[in-house]
Amino acid sequence: MGKTGEKILHLPVMTAEVMEMLSVRPDGRYLDATVGQGGHSSEILRRLGPAGLLVGMDRDREALMAVSERIKDKRLKLFHSSFSGMESTVRDGGYDAFDGILMDLGVSMTQMKSNERGFSFLTDAPLDMRMDRDATLTAGDIVNTWPQHQLEEIFRDFGEEKRARRIARAIVEARKRQRITTCRELADIVKGVIGRSGRIHPATRIFQALRIAVNNELEELDEGLRQSFSLLARGGRLCVISYHSLEDRIVKNRFRDWDREGLARRLNKKPVIPSPEEIRRNPSSRSGKLRGVERL
Ligand SMILES: C[S@@+](CC[C@H](N)C(=O)[O-])C[C@H]1O[C@@H](n2cnc3c(N)ncnc32)[C@H](O)[C@@H]1O
Repeated sequence: MGKTGEKILHLPVMTAEVMEMLSVRPDGRYLDATVGQGGHSSEILRRLGPAGLLVGMDRDREALMAVSERIKDKRLKLFHSSFSGMESTVRDGGYDAFDGILMDLGVSMTQMKSNERGFSFLTDAPLDMRMDRDATLTAGDIVNTWPQHQLEEIFRDFGEEKRARRIARAIVEARKRQRITTCRELADIVKGVIGRSGRIHPATRIFQALRIAVNNELEELDEGLRQSFSLLARGGRLCVISYHSLEDRIVKNRFRDWDREGLARRLNKKPVIPSPEEIRRNPSSRSGKLRGVERL
């Protein structure tokens, strides 16, 4: 919910480009592994005939609830799972050999702008950042209990933040006085260390690092790519949209390795990026990079 209680909707990114890459067949079987607010799923359903199938998955139960309310369609089967549980969840449901799988990484605008979920430094939400609220570790736990060197490590490795040490030290000093509870409090501590310069908010990298750590995002992605591949039929396509360089590197390298090993053919060597028109309409699409492979 936004400040006034209205639902913030997520605009799907590079929809036309994703649909072209997936090249949806009316009678095909598709898996949307990040169903989110159902934007891409709706487009896949529009292209499917009566015999087609779409399995939708997400680790966020709230997102799945919203989609099950919004999209009433017998061809859509929804499952709650993270990437690391994808293969068993989907196979236990009786599905495999997909013609296309989509992974649209990161968080949705609905999650990002929520006043409760704690993803945005512009809110007074508690420091949470769990995509899956059944998980136990929150950003607040990390910020208030992890040793300084571990904070520094994630800020450097997951946030690519040059001032990681100074920020980690400032957090440890601040939490001695009192527990750091809200996103805004943490953002202010970071701003106090590095000041405000440039276009992006000084806490952007720190929030990215915490989100990756809370949700184990890089290992999840690695595992998700592996499991997706084994769920693809021969000739089936895997399309991934990533939103930062750490994710894109993992996708790029994995696709290159499959290509070299003769397991898959890359559909593009350079990532597809949103058009200037899309970025104008939806600025949060600007860092999106789309890559695809076809299983041989
Ligand atoms: C960018 S949004 C997807 C938006 C969606 N394509 C749409 O059009 O509405 C990313 C979604 O992926 C989910 N997600 C991220 N990492 C995940 C993981 N490891 N396992 C399962 N779902 C994940 C998030 O909870 C979020 O709902």
